[in-house]
Amino acid sequence: MQFTIKAAAPEKLGADTLVFAAFPDQNKPALQKNQPAATRAMDAHLGGKLSVLIERGALKMAAGSLCELHGFDEHNTCTRIVLVSLGKHAEFGERALREALRTSARALADSVGKTALYALTALELDRLPGRDAAWLMQQAACALANATYRYDSGKAKTDKTDEPPKGIARITLLATRAAPALPRAVEQGQAIAEGMALARQLGDMPANRCTPTHLAETAQALGKEFGFKVQVLKRKEMEGLGMGALLSVARGSHQPPKFIILHYQGAKDAGQKPVVLVGKGVTFDSGGISLKPGEAMDEMRFDMCGAASVLGAMRAAARLALPINVVGLIPATENLPGGNASKPGDVVTSLSGQTIEILNTDAEGRLLLCDALTYAERFQPECVIDIATLTGAIIIALGKIPSGLMANDDELARALIDCGQYSGDRVWQMPLWPEYQELLDSNFADMANIGGRFAGPITAASFLARFTKAYRWAHLDIAGTAWLTGTSKGATGRPVPLLVEFLLRRAAQVKAARPVRKTSARNARA
Ligand code: BES
Ligand code: MN
Ligand code: ZN
Repeated sequence: MQFTIKAAAPEKLGADTLVFAAFPDQNKPALQKNQPAATRAMDAHLGGKLSVLIERGALKMAAGSLCELHGFDEHNTCTRIVLVSLGKHAEFGERALREALRTSARALADSVGKTALYALTALELDRLPGRDAAWLMQQAACALANATYRYDSGKAKTDKTDEPPKGIARITLLATRAAPALPRAVEQGQAIAEGMALARQLGDMPANRCTPTHLAETAQALGKEFGFKVQVLKRKEMEGLGMGALLSVARGSHQPPKFIILHYQGAKDAGQKPVVLVGKGVTFDSGGISLKPGEAMDEMRFDMCGAASVLGAMRAAARLALPINVVGLIPATENLPGGNASKPGDVVTSLSGQTIEILNTDAEGRLLLCDALTYAERFQPECVIDIATLTGAIIIALGKIPSGLMANDDELARALIDCGQYSGDRVWQMPLWPEYQELLDSNFADMANIGGRFAGPITAASFLARFTKAYRWAHLDIAGTAWLTGTSKGATGRPVPLLVEFLLRRAAQVKAARPVRKTSARNARA
């Protein structure tokens, strides 16, 4: 999908499909001053036909509702107009706007025709504090590109339908005025969508194909494509390091575990401290000897979505050539029962030296992550963020709307909350107070790997907190947000938008810090 930004009168820009937004309740007597300026211009050009239709109730009140008009415009080449509802004018806000972006993007992804003019990117934003035209460009480009995602099963394409191929190839994004920030914003939106597509593709891939080895090969291919270093540690090397917790999970599986390390070095200054992203990569979680019930167990193929989001975010960082350093760590394994599998009551020694009593082999994510988090220390990180489909309890607590956030540093937590708001990929913080730690007491080791019935997401994070004392750390529990169930079952690509926004802000920070030195050096020479 190719985007062009145009700041011009919309009625002068022809395309196969025109997409305009409108408030269904601002129709009398004609399209009034409250309607978006671009929509008013188009309406005037069409002799008020749009306002007549809206007045007749053709556009529904719910934000995101669509109304299609065909063969409408005899003055230019357009054959089709898609009107998108912005909802009740008085209730307009970010939620309505996101809904309109989402449904219109979907409509374009399912459209026939080659070109489209998209007018939602020229919407007035005065009622959305803190949001500007660049933000809207980024969000729209991301939504439009993300809507074109199709799971690639890799199977031979045999279906010979007579239908013309779907999906618009070229989209003109309408802008109120040209600004240098806009092309970069579109590029960012595309990079985020491509990162999401990678994460979704890996999540959707069945567990017999998306193995730890496949994750490692994907990381290596990414490193090759974008020119960064990728290391893959095998079982022997992990044994040598002493990753006893990670390896205890891999015992029941015939698939070899992998510890994947991605080094993206975008900073000029090689000594710049990296952001370390750690992603849970359980390519299938049966629960192990503490076997899960059968219902919906197939969804445990998505238990590597943390790993997938690390790959997606790092792809976006590399594609945008962000001037920062990012290290990705992916402990990858299956969790299966077997004659050699870990058993409830087994005690293992983690890379940190702390011992763990495995009371439930289904609490395996934290066993992988604790060794990866200890390994992260060697990079002297700016901060560490782990991303994991860690607990079913986070879905009970928060549903499938925000990801759970817990952190040992309030400033980092605050930053992630802000990034979530801005990107629309939201998080909700839960407490990580020391009082919870005693729930992990064990009679036979330094800690147990489960904390009982109470506060599941917090005891899981409290376990991880014992391995993250050396740096600023945040934990994202994405068990509720990484995939959808039911008829729309599939990976969402979250939290790639959140992570990329976090990396974009770090890049802006280091950029803001750098020119000071540059300018003074130039002045000194002059
Ligand atoms: N991968 C699961 C978490 C999960 C469960 C995500 C259901 C999405 C839906 C994780 O490894 C797990 O099994 N967690 C256990 C922890 C418990 C044994 C303390 C859980 O949530 O039941
Ligand atoms: Mn589990
Ligand atoms: Zn799991």
